[in-house]
Amino acid sequence: MVDKKTYVEEHESNSNSNNSTVGKREDDNDANTTVASEGSSSPIIELEIQDIEGIGPTTAKKLKEAGIVSVMDLAVTSAEELAVEINSSKDSAAAFIIAAQKLLRDSKVLEKEFVTADAALEKRRSMLRCSTGSSALDDLLLGGIETQAVTEFYGEFGSGKSQVCHTLCATARQPVEEGGLNANTIYIDTEGTFRPERIQEIARSRGYDSSQILKSIAVCKVYNSSHLELIIKNLGKYVDDFKAKLVVIDSVISLHRAEFAGRGTLADRQQRLNTMLHKIIRLAEIYNIAVVITNQVQSSPDTFFGDPTKAAGGNVLGHASTYRIYLRKSGENRIAKMIDSPYHPYSDARFTVNERGTDDIEEELRKKSSSRGKKKEEEEEE
Ligand code: GTP
Ligand code: MG
Repeated sequence: MVDKKTYVEEHESNSNSNNSTVGKREDDNDANTTVASEGSSSPIIELEIQDIEGIGPTTAKKLKEAGIVSVMDLAVTSAEELAVEINSSKDSAAAFIIAAQKLLRDSKVLEKEFVTADAALEKRRSMLRCSTGSSALDDLLLGGIETQAVTEFYGEFGSGKSQVCHTLCATARQPVEEGGLNANTIYIDTEGTFRPERIQEIARSRGYDSSQILKSIAVCKVYNSSHLELIIKNLGKYVDDFKAKLVVIDSVISLHRAEFAGRGTLADRQQRLNTMLHKIIRLAEIYNIAVVITNQVQSSPDTFFGDPTKAAGGNVLGHASTYRIYLRKSGENRIAKMIDSPYHPYSDARFTVNERGTDDIEEELRKKSSSRGKKKEEEEEE
């Protein structure tokens, strides 16, 4: 965390030399903004709402009453949501959000609107990955789940979604060199399936310090869709307070699905899900955290070939996740299939669930190491 005093001094010296553009309103849009700093040490500066030009004490008070207490909170809000909460026009709500994002950019917390592709590549190199506990599943994800992204696991009941989430809680606390994020986890449980004793078992089986891991997980049991929306609304603050780098939402849709059952309520449900999911994407990017969501399946009767199940939530959920992985049972084992990703190959991985949580299938590991051995022998012969 950057010392606020240091920031203010730098900020003032910029203003004095007339270089600062903080708060000046420019033609801007709700650009895809991401944390500019590297890896786990991103400086999330606690600026005051009043530091944003155009926001006086009255607006600051209204924002605080709406639960928006920091510049980060304002930067991740949507204009529609904010306009309702502070009873303003959508245009002025959007202007406040843009000014907040601009202040964060000027203070180097966020990247500029445009970065060159090589700078973007450099930034991706600093992104962290967390192991799922299975090297086959990690390979499918090209090294594990990523920060600055939303990874969705969907599948039928018993396909292993919650087991992946439980295992990630244990691996996230491990050092970065060992495939972890060296950080805490926030676990949002909407189905009542979080089991601390399972985490304990996974941690012990892997030789991790189980009491340290249990202390590193903040669990929130959520009972209805409005409660979930409220938790997501304040998630930035919880992430900051708890120093979390992994947020698990197991599952993201079940409450909305159960409460908005009839056809007539579908549009309302999708609208609320959309607002919530967009907030989740912005949080992942701005706070440099890995977000893992689970989703259910629904049958798709119009499918004549292949698997007639698809992810629930329609396009709204489809657009919200950066990576989408379909899990299904295959006898004792599980198959994970990459369904949607901007850069992963759309391949499969086989893994299992055992006392270590999600794990590799032993015979496949043996096959892999023997084929590696053969390859080496062949190379040596040549
Ligand atoms: P829903 O939440 O019902 O949609 O399913 P899910 O995809 O979250 O399933 P979950 O991850 O809970 O997987 C359940 C399966 O994992 C069980 O059928 C078991 O095969 C396995 N499993 C769950 N708990 C344990 C455990 O403590 N030990 C072992 N060895 N396997 C477990
Ligand atoms: Mg589950």
